[in-house]
Amino acid sequence: MKIGNDIYYIGVNDHNISLFEGQYRVPYGMSYNSYVIKDEKIAVIDTVEAGFTDTWLNNLKNAIGNKQVDYLIIQHMEPDHSGSINGFLKVYPNAKIVSSQRSFVMMKQFFGNDYTDNQMVIENGSLLSLGKHDLTFVSAPMVHWPEVTVTFDKTEGVLFSADAFGKFGANDVSDKWEREACKYYFGIVGKFGPQVQVVLKKINDFDIKKICPAHGPVLEENLSYYIGLYDTWSRYLPQKSGVVIAYTSVYGNTKKAVLELADLLKKGGKDVKLYNLARCDMTDAIADAFCYDKLVLATTTYNSEIFPFMREFISHLTERNYQGRVIGLIENGSWAPMANKVMKNMLEKSKNIQFTPTCVKILSSLNEESKGQLEMLARELIEN
Ligand code: FEO
Repeated sequence: MKIGNDIYYIGVNDHNISLFEGQYRVPYGMSYNSYVIKDEKIAVIDTVEAGFTDTWLNNLKNAIGNKQVDYLIIQHMEPDHSGSINGFLKVYPNAKIVSSQRSFVMMKQFFGNDYTDNQMVIENGSLLSLGKHDLTFVSAPMVHWPEVTVTFDKTEGVLFSADAFGKFGANDVSDKWEREACKYYFGIVGKFGPQVQVVLKKINDFDIKKICPAHGPVLEENLSYYIGLYDTWSRYLPQKSGVVIAYTSVYGNTKKAVLELADLLKKGGKDVKLYNLARCDMTDAIADAFCYDKLVLATTTYNSEIFPFMREFISHLTERNYQGRVIGLIENGSWAPMANKVMKNMLEKSKNIQFTPTCVKILSSLNEESKGQLEMLARELIEN
């Protein structure tokens, strides 16, 4: 598929995968994107997951015919992009592999071979001319691995962005880019906001007309929308106003309380997102916790701790540097409730967290006192 004057998409769609990177549910599959630039010299950008090597090589052959590839640019060493290097070199043994020093170390680790005879080591600012096309390599460490490089083709104004600006879902499925990209960002890249900010500054001077990510569609038109979202997300700023309620419930009493709270909040004009952490796709709840400005955590005291799904959820947030939000807490316990204290402790190192004055304590089931606390909490979330 032609996507530029001399640039072709040669990636694949994976509909067999159920868990991406071993944990993210992808009911709409995944795309592994790869591109080829046809110039006096031919450069391929990234490979695909090993199970798709033959399909990918076939796509490549359809794009370039019987010509030889001069350069294979490896931007990122996760196997969804590097898994076909071996298969590629069997067909194009004379191609140079263009990548960072750190990538070659990882190639040896992953494949037992760092392809010494094929190496072309690049670093931040390295240039490569293919003829008409002048490529600039920009290091993007920890977006989201240390060896990552992104590539700017000055000639056509195309940024090959590796995982940045990627999304869940195959390219032959229509879905909402923003939602799947938000889940992908906070699931996979979210911890590395400062590093994303550094890369956004590095690419700021480029005249970018198209973004070609390693997953998801080629982005063109209104690029400031996509770059603006990445700026907001990587600054940990809320994108939307509203309350995310994440809860667990053993016998339905905590659920009843959060439903009452949701009702009060909606009556007060708030947008509310409700997640039962035992049943939802945790990635959805994580994305919305970062997307919205307020969060309510409601759980039971369990084994002198908190319910496991809530512990997992809070850990997902804190390890991704969750910060700068208003949080309300609801605990339920039948003899020694301590969930609010445990949840607060888990969040104590998170920056700029403002807890609501009211923490709700439920003793087994709602009563007049805890209902009153729920009403207070709702008011604080509406008025704050
Ligand atoms: Fe799409 Fe970090 O690999």
